[in-house]
Amino acid sequence: MQKPDVIVVGSGLSALLTANYLSDKLNVIIFTKSSKYDNNSFLAQGGVACAIEHTDSWEQHYQDTLFAGCYHNDENAVKVLTQMGPELLREIVHKGMKFDKDKQGNYSLGMEGAHSKRRILHAGGDQTGKKLMEWLQSTLSNKVQLVEHETVIKLEVQDGVCSGVQTINNNGMRKSYFSSSVVLATGGAGALYPFTSNNISITGMALSLAYQAGAALTDLEFMQFHPTMLSYEGRAVGLISEAVRGEGAYLETGSGKRFMEEYHPLKDLAPRDVVSRAIFYEMEKGESIYLNIEHVSDFVERFPAITALCKKHNICLEKKRIPVVPGAHFYMGGIFTNINGETTLPGLFAVGEAACNGVHGANRLASNSLLETMVFSKTLADHLKKIDLPASALRYRREELPSDFLQRKCESLPIKSDIQQMMMQYAGIVRNEEGLFTLKNYLEIFEPYWKGLNQLTAILSLEEIETIHMLQLSFLITEAAIKRTESRGTHYRTDHPVAKEAWKQVRIMHNVPDKKG
Ligand code: SIN
Repeated sequence: MQKPDVIVVGSGLSALLTANYLSDKLNVIIFTKSSKYDNNSFLAQGGVACAIEHTDSWEQHYQDTLFAGCYHNDENAVKVLTQMGPELLREIVHKGMKFDKDKQGNYSLGMEGAHSKRRILHAGGDQTGKKLMEWLQSTLSNKVQLVEHETVIKLEVQDGVCSGVQTINNNGMRKSYFSSSVVLATGGAGALYPFTSNNISITGMALSLAYQAGAALTDLEFMQFHPTMLSYEGRAVGLISEAVRGEGAYLETGSGKRFMEEYHPLKDLAPRDVVSRAIFYEMEKGESIYLNIEHVSDFVERFPAITALCKKHNICLEKKRIPVVPGAHFYMGGIFTNINGETTLPGLFAVGEAACNGVHGANRLASNSLLETMVFSKTLADHLKKIDLPASALRYRREELPSDFLQRKCESLPIKSDIQQMMMQYAGIVRNEEGLFTLKNYLEIFEPYWKGLNQLTAILSLEEIETIHMLQLSFLITEAAIKRTESRGTHYRTDHPVAKEAWKQVRIMHNVPDKKG
């Protein structure tokens, strides 16, 4: 294998777009832990929010993004997103990506929560992510090498610079690869929770790896729950896009009572955090919640993937009601970066949901994430092509293992579903200090495992390594949620129920950076 200039980790839109943008100048290799189809991008339904019509403007999109983000956003990042978005979207269309149009040949724009306008471009009805990924996979430069089923289990750091990755494949074989830069584009951490719209592989391991390597993480207390996942036999089994409410569907209880007007003037199209909390409170009263779709015209044609999902789970759409439950959906927190994707660790970059440049604030505006991948993959790639890449570090140094760890080899690690249940119960849609401390005490028991990971990685199974990273990230999330003694966006504390002005722009950091570009 030719030595790559850049290693990209992940297989979704951010990973492929970054690789494509880089490939005219740099050698790129992509590693993904499962197949190239196993990522959140494939699952994205709603679409791409973009002020592309002349009746819309980047300023309006900017204001909506700040409003949904509860003004915790980095305003410059929002400006870059909303200003660069339309131009990049047109470029992607020019290169062959097709979005749905109406009979007159205009873009058929969808509506979602907290948008002041219809501005969601979609493809294949509700299959925007799938269509974008298929298009991108078909146009992936042949200079990019894509390696599937090889999981990155460690970031190599030499002399304070990230110099490559260590991987493990399905047969347990470990390898080290070196490059001048590493880009983490692995998605968020939805699978830290039992109810999630995310692919089950998205446990936030790359965030934890970055932390272990010394990079700063931030905004970890902000996990967005999507209000409407299909509820089936006590589980959440897939997304029911917010675009369905944008076309006139509304939430109601089992007895047919609409309740969103009690919670927000925007009712069913209020920001996501508000709608998820409203459902949470109604469910606490013992209600089952349904999405009433009787006023949605051409449901089957407009939402073919959701129709198929419902059929698969024996939901009869003729009854015009879909049972729903909220689930972990999008992580606003992540690896602290600037708009060029630079982290606080030289040589390490992050983009997309794995990164946090502050663009989403405390609650992402619906359908801003696909736009985010387009914009910040480009800024990152342009930056990487401009700078002198650090000379690649060359030798792999094996760490010695403390003998007591060998004896205690993780016998008492919990199973992943236990961690997910604890996270849902104590760091879910609604939190308080008592619950967060219960969670912290539970997680703290396992601290020796993540403290010893640098050495332990060499002997543990992938399952064990993943579990330890889930524990570490959950612990960091809990610490952040304890520290933020206010409620803002997706972080809602019953013991501190209001947003406090003093907290608005405060970012809770882990691994505080000593320098930042
Ligand atoms: C949805 O279709 O409701 C999800 C879109 C998004 O999360 O932006």
